[in-house]
Amino acid sequence: MHAPAPKTLAPKTLAPKTLAPKTLKVRIWRGREEGSFCSYEVPARDNQTVLDVVTEVQRRHEPALAYRFACRVGVCGSCAMTVNGVPRWTCRTHVAKVAEAGAITIEPLRNMPRIKDLACDMRGFFDKWQKAGGRFSGTATRAEPPAKVDPANPRRRAADAAIECINCAVCYSACDVVSWNEAYLGPAALNRAWTVVNDERHALRRTTLDLATGEGGCGNCHTQGSCMRHCPVGISPTESIAGLKRMSLLSFLVRDRDAAEAPAGARAEAEEAPA
Ligand code: SF4
Ligand code: SF4
Ligand code: FES
Repeated sequence: MHAPAPKTLAPKTLAPKTLAPKTLKVRIWRGREEGSFCSYEVPARDNQTVLDVVTEVQRRHEPALAYRFACRVGVCGSCAMTVNGVPRWTCRTHVAKVAEAGAITIEPLRNMPRIKDLACDMRGFFDKWQKAGGRFSGTATRAEPPAKVDPANPRRRAADAAIECINCAVCYSACDVVSWNEAYLGPAALNRAWTVVNDERHALRRTTLDLATGEGGCGNCHTQGSCMRHCPVGISPTESIAGLKRMSLLSFLVRDRDAAEAPAGARAEAEEAPA
């Protein structure tokens, strides 16, 4: 007996692999407020980030190209730029995610003066931290033991939710109120104010609340959440600003009780009925 003839298998048709384009077209802003886009082509690589592309352009095409970065791993926040119209950390943005028809356009962040190419002047942004009362001022001296802070305390939880901000200014760049109202303190500064106003170790909670709710403060926010949608850390400045508004109102209502303690008292009430 003969063994049955082996079945002839039809050759498998392999689906054609989608090949990545070999080159990437890049438009980069050159100049200051006055300037223009320059076009470059760089090799397209797997897992390439937008910061890799900027670095490649600087190394191979434009040694004088100005831009900022430091950590390359999403810690320092210094590499933020506008990529295809959206503010982003460039070191954590993969080209494959944002390229449109094999092309990307890179500009400096918005809402800050342009110094050169992709670097902008962030002094106004940082000054607003101070204007919003965001500098921590301790109630204890070095000689005293560290304060015991209950992590489950509602005020502490509110501070913790907002505290991881690394000052990248992505939210500030995304805020359209900042773009037409220069006096507006903006989402990052107000988010910081919300953090310290909820910190029971901060000696100037009343001052911070007054600054953050005064002229240029939280009342200017229209609560549409562009800052929240773009924050790479997942912080919601929108929520922090809403908290400041709520605290301001409650503080106003209880101010006859004890003005010095109003932020704490108001916050406690607000936390019992969170918005
Ligand atoms: S809130 Fe988010 S987007 Fe805004 S500065 Fe802080 S980390 Fe950056
Ligand atoms: S929610 Fe407020 S702070 Fe955030 S982008 Fe809108 S106006 Fe700016
Ligand atoms: S280089 Fe530090 S966050 Fe991008």
